[in-house]
Amino acid sequence: MKIELNNKKVIFNNNQDKIEIHPIWLRERVRDEEFLDKNNDQRLFDPSFLNNINIESAKINNVTLELTFNDGVSSKFEINKLTSEFLDSENLLNTIKQKFWDSTLKKNPTYEFKENFYASKEMYDLLKSFYEYGFVIIKNVPTKNNYIVDFANSIGSVRPTNFGEFFNVKSVPNPNDLAYTSLALPPHTDNPYRKPIPCIQLLHCIENEVSGGFSTLVDGFKVATYLKENKSKYFEILTKIKVKFKFTDKDVVLENTGQLIELDEQDNLKQIRFNTRLDYVPVLEKKQLDLYYNARKKISELYNSEKFRIQFKLMPGDIIMMDNHRLLHGRTIYNTNEGKRYLQGCYIDHDSSEGKLRHLKRKFGL
Ligand SMILES: [Fe+2]
Repeated sequence: MKIELNNKKVIFNNNQDKIEIHPIWLRERVRDEEFLDKNNDQRLFDPSFLNNINIESAKINNVTLELTFNDGVSSKFEINKLTSEFLDSENLLNTIKQKFWDSTLKKNPTYEFKENFYASKEMYDLLKSFYEYGFVIIKNVPTKNNYIVDFANSIGSVRPTNFGEFFNVKSVPNPNDLAYTSLALPPHTDNPYRKPIPCIQLLHCIENEVSGGFSTLVDGFKVATYLKENKSKYFEILTKIKVKFKFTDKDVVLENTGQLIELDEQDNLKQIRFNTRLDYVPVLEKKQLDLYYNARKKISELYNSEKFRIQFKLMPGDIIMMDNHRLLHGRTIYNTNEGKRYLQGCYIDHDSSEGKLRHLKRKFGL
């Protein structure tokens, strides 16, 4: 692929197609001091007011494209930058290959907390692993003074909910959520009733004296892929029907709808929703609901099966950071007579992790 010239036209040639690059598209990308604030990469002009922009002269000089526009502006462009934008290879997440996993996963992606952690190369590696596996574990994180909030705010920004800025996971009398009991929690995604649904959950183990209470994780994308390959009709209906999820307590009623398996515009897996305590499928023809209920039963069996689940014990100081749009999480039952089990949790958005990842990539020139 390359950039070439045809008279005063700039052409992107990707070996199959030749596309003329619009003069305004190029004019918008002028990066000279007068047009762009270098501190924040924001334009110092409004390109929506540009019209009748043409190229007066064009020259390719090795790795640089030199253009003069009919409004008198001349500028140089790095050809590499233009082609990478055309190929969308600038999109960092496209360059990270997701690794779907099941119970045969050999080693949990694990990192050690240390001084200056948030600005370190390890943080870059951690975030990359997070996008590969959908989760990471960080060991030896300070446990005092609700440190989970500092941790979250050092990656991005905490997303508060009606549970507060963070929440304490321990068994309490009259809980408003099953999380606050000592019962087993089957695999689920958090808060599918929220708008938007929290992207990333952080859970910090403060105390764990019980012999049970193992944390469980399932890669929802692995299960969805398995379902597509083995029960395509089930996969299809779960990607089509939008289900309502609802949360009610004395202060609030929250509702949101979405598919149990949501795909993006290219039919790639986008988001998993699963919480059978809170889901309400709409009234549909009986035949369609027959298929839906069979499909939900099947995916529930898969999510709950040992084939897809990993489980491990969180130790004091451990943080698990998991993608709530891809992974399901749960825990095994524990006995409160054995001692304390106390976790603190909070949410951050993908915005936080992506922004930090791009920043660290730029910082380390990766
Ligand atoms: Fe949960």
